[in-house]
Amino acid sequence: MKETERLINLAFESSCDDFSCAVLSRENGKIRILSNIIYSQDFVHCAYGGVVPELASRNHIKASLPALEAALRKAGVGLGTVGLVSATSGPGLAGSLLIGLMEAKAICYALGKPLAPVNHIEGHIFSPFLERKEVFPFISLIISGGHTHIYLVKSHSDIKLLGRTRDDACGELFDKVSSYLGYGYPAGKIIDSLAGKGDGGAFKFTLPMEHAGTLDMSFSGLKTSVISLIEKLGGVGKIKENTVFDIFASLREAVAKILYKKVFKAMSLHGINTAVIAGGVSANERIREYFAQSAKVKGIEVVFPPPDLSTDNAAMIGYAGYFKKWIDPLESGQEFLNINAHPGWEL
Ligand code: KG4
Ligand code: ZN
Repeated sequence: MKETERLINLAFESSCDDFSCAVLSRENGKIRILSNIIYSQDFVHCAYGGVVPELASRNHIKASLPALEAALRKAGVGLGTVGLVSATSGPGLAGSLLIGLMEAKAICYALGKPLAPVNHIEGHIFSPFLERKEVFPFISLIISGGHTHIYLVKSHSDIKLLGRTRDDACGELFDKVSSYLGYGYPAGKIIDSLAGKGDGGAFKFTLPMEHAGTLDMSFSGLKTSVISLIEKLGGVGKIKENTVFDIFASLREAVAKILYKKVFKAMSLHGINTAVIAGGVSANERIREYFAQSAKVKGIEVVFPPPDLSTDNAAMIGYAGYFKKWIDPLESGQEFLNINAHPGWEL
């Protein structure tokens, strides 16, 4: 297909508890989002303080056709105009991944159009470029509920892991602290807004693995420090609300600092001037502000996706899909049949 021709891409993302379907177009090299429908299941999982995999896949089944219809309607296109289908094939929850991926495969068979299986993390890595010009090479920091990973990215297909959390992801840290204190789910957003009412300098947490000669990180120690502090202050339910806000603000501050230190170290080690920060936690207001302020001082460039494209969405999967291998259901035969969910797929 010629670069100048319009290529409509129908994308699916269902790796965890959001079912999302998007329509993108690429024309003369310019990629645009025509629709990006996200069916959140927060209202289902909040009662359990975290994602219940079985409920996530059952609710994905209910969302799968309405999300497709809504995405096509909003984009103003029919299924017949679709030239490419993209879908997350890993990592994530097996049952959840299968719903979006199998819907995508069925549509490919029906239309005789190719499928681009996409790694969810690649979706996050390139998500800022849905709204701005691409910049290569860059250091990528992915901060989400399951990942806290640093990559060196030289092109769409040249992505090298430089460091990662050795235990909890930083989104998980927010989620666990919130659940310990009896605040709701999903916690990152809640902690972020309550932290805005607190003083980030109220408590000083030791930055985990700050001086380790590695780009690896650790967040479970920070979680233990927060829990010990809460116990010292009298325990859950005994602390004043303002003190809880101070704890959230101080925690947010510590996370922003350690993430920045690791990213800046990666940039210095590899002689890279641009950092791209993405994943659900990149919506955090203080993390954005801290990176922006520090970047100004150091003269480096820091890029974030818009907050609504930070958390899981199908538009980012469609974007990555344009640059992946496309597998034709009719011509490739066995290769297409073998496309499957890969819950543990590491980049
Ligand atoms: O990327 P994402 O939507 O899903 C995964 O791939 O995991 O990220 C979800 C994570 C959750 O841990 C959620 O608490 C966190 O992103 N999150 C935030 C904010 N919004 C979502 N964390 C901190 N501040 C936020 N504003
Ligand atoms: Zn994600």
